[in-house]
Amino acid sequence: MSKLADESVQVEELKNVDELKPNKIIDVRGAICPHPLNLIRDTIVSLKDKEILQAICDHEPTAKENAPRFCLRRGYPLKVIEQNGIWQVFIQKIEKTEPRLRVLSVSKVFRTNQGKVTALDNINLTIQEGEFVCIVGPSGCGKSTLLNLIAGLDKPTQGEIWSNGNRVTGPGSDRVVVFQEGALFPWLTVMQNVEFGLKLRDVASNIRRTLALDYLKLVGLDEKFHNSFIHQLSGGMKQRVAIARALVMEPAILLMDEPFAALDVYTRETLQEELQNIWTESHKTIVFVTHNVQEAVLLGDRVIVFASNPGQVKAEYEIDIARPRKIDHPEVFLNTKWITDDLKEELEEQSYKANAKKEVVYR
Ligand SMILES: Nc1ncnc2c1ncn2[C@@H]1O[C@H](COP(=O)(O)OP(=O)(O)O)[C@@H](O)[C@H]1O
Ligand SMILES: [Mg+2]
Repeated sequence: MSKLADESVQVEELKNVDELKPNKIIDVRGAICPHPLNLIRDTIVSLKDKEILQAICDHEPTAKENAPRFCLRRGYPLKVIEQNGIWQVFIQKIEKTEPRLRVLSVSKVFRTNQGKVTALDNINLTIQEGEFVCIVGPSGCGKSTLLNLIAGLDKPTQGEIWSNGNRVTGPGSDRVVVFQEGALFPWLTVMQNVEFGLKLRDVASNIRRTLALDYLKLVGLDEKFHNSFIHQLSGGMKQRVAIARALVMEPAILLMDEPFAALDVYTRETLQEELQNIWTESHKTIVFVTHNVQEAVLLGDRVIVFASNPGQVKAEYEIDIARPRKIDHPEVFLNTKWITDDLKEELEEQSYKANAKKEVVYR
């Protein structure tokens, strides 16, 4: 086992490197943008189970921090050898038997009075157990549509969604959604809202109460509000209750659709911090949709950038920054800038296409 600089994590060591033949060698020297780790990740995606990648690297943090943390997250054995200021990074890909979530060639077409709208076009995603994945993209690129399909609230026009090896055909207790507006029941108190799903499952009242108290504590809602009605709460408190109500069901996957978008900046930052803590403690698989790039970088292990018209995956970023992350961390700033540039390019392309279309119509 080799130790990372922050001492708390240990990665499995790839043994007998001298005797192993790498299946692919890449040179990431000089790579800055995208981060060398993205190039390593993209190459590993193309490898088969048990195959080995050798990356030649001149960026010490990539070799000593980012690659080891990445391997730890994925369960890949690793060996790093330093030679005169250059690092040879050996990584073995190990395919997990079953990812937590698999989106396979999913398309969604809505039929409206104005004709067909292709909200999603051939989306493929694989999300591992315990991953925190953020999806960013301009408004209307199909983020909510995808989340609804994963939740089983709607069906894909084409393709399949699999949760832990089971085909998704409708809503299930393994997947719970937190919406932008809490969608809480106004006629129930905070405690009754959190207990609601458990009651439907016929959980005994004393266990319900204990679980609800646990999760209200986890999301940091002061006890004095437990018997308040929803209209008596601030926006931030409502979202805390919505998160507690989702977590109390102990779903394997938490789906969050712009849950902090309607909150003021200060409350949003507090809840972002707390969600990081909740994720660290509970190690849920989280799919988090947002149009706020900084929020995605702050929270995600991976940020998936969507393009619109039709909704497609445009790019994917591995965000390897130690947690808890702060907004003013230079790496958060840099990653936010790269992804924002990527999105701007996408928006410019869209407006160019829209203008070109208009010109054709006017002629
Ligand atoms: N129920 C629906 N009927 C018709 N069109 C829809 C429906 N839901 C979404 N759309 C369209 O699909 C596209 C993607 O929408 P949505 O998933 O809400 O985007 P986002 O969440 O990224 O803002 C948009 O063009 C939207 O108008
Ligand atoms: Mg949306």
